[in-house]
Amino acid sequence: MTTNLQQPISHSDDTDSLVDLNTPDILQLTKKVESLGDWFHNINLDGVPTAPNHFLGDYPNIKWKHISSAFPDDLKGASVLDVGCNAGFYSIALKQRGAGRVLGVDVDDRYLDQGRFAAQFLHLDIEFEKRTVYEVDSIEGQFDYVLFMGVFYHLRYPLLALDKIVKKVAGRLIFQTMLRGSKHAYPVKPNYDFWNKKIFTDPDFPAAYFIENSYSNDQTNWFIPNRSGAEGMLRSAGLEIVEHPEPETWVCVPNSVQRDGRYILDMELDGTL
Ligand SMILES: C[S@@+](CC[C@H](N)C(=O)[O-])C[C@H]1O[C@@H](n2cnc3c(N)ncnc32)[C@H](O)[C@@H]1O
Repeated sequence: MTTNLQQPISHSDDTDSLVDLNTPDILQLTKKVESLGDWFHNINLDGVPTAPNHFLGDYPNIKWKHISSAFPDDLKGASVLDVGCNAGFYSIALKQRGAGRVLGVDVDDRYLDQGRFAAQFLHLDIEFEKRTVYEVDSIEGQFDYVLFMGVFYHLRYPLLALDKIVKKVAGRLIFQTMLRGSKHAYPVKPNYDFWNKKIFTDPDFPAAYFIENSYSNDQTNWFIPNRSGAEGMLRSAGLEIVEHPEPETWVCVPNSVQRDGRYILDMELDGTL
């Protein structure tokens, strides 16, 4: 690329935000990274880490190491929708593997600005759009890969979001959620008798803990499932689990997402499910 890429990256007109993307100066780059606020994604920008002091370590690289094998080495132009993309770590990783259209959506301008900067710095064509998960069903078309990572437990209406996201999945859904409680899968039966109360004392029975106030100093943590709760909700959304590359992450394909040609979401909303 021969274009002069020295330009302001953020919306700020502060001259400190000028970074020469061809020959970045480490100090300038570090300053620019810091000026974009606290990062949740640790992205390596030519040796400058964006979140070197993350409380979870080198995040989300420590997760990506386990789930990256769930994607082909060459994505051959496959389309990707990254819901709750944050600063775009996964969008960047998949674009670098040869994805075609990559669209990251998030509600937080700070993260979106970080993502735009990181992608531009790395010369990657990634779209970042401010959009809530509850509006993904109005995005045109479907995607070969849909990522729904680390967002589910932040939602007051998690199944509404999941049912909307399912509509966008042409190929695979990569789903990750925080888990608490039992780590065991549970052999769910088709029905339980009204007087069977024992199942509810079994910690492995599918459940999601409701957080009334705050968890981990974060009042947006609403429902945290146990393992069988997460798996049950995925299956109930019409998805088939095809891989479980690490404890909190599942790879799913659409299986019975429609009934009589209609999506579960639409049937639930008009009372015909
Ligand atoms: C824990 S971070 C996960 C980021 C990334 N997907 C990952 O797995 O590393 C949660 C992200 O979801 C975003 N988010 C929260 N509520 C959202 C909503 N209603 N719609 C879209 N994104 C949302 C937050 O802004 C944040 O970037």
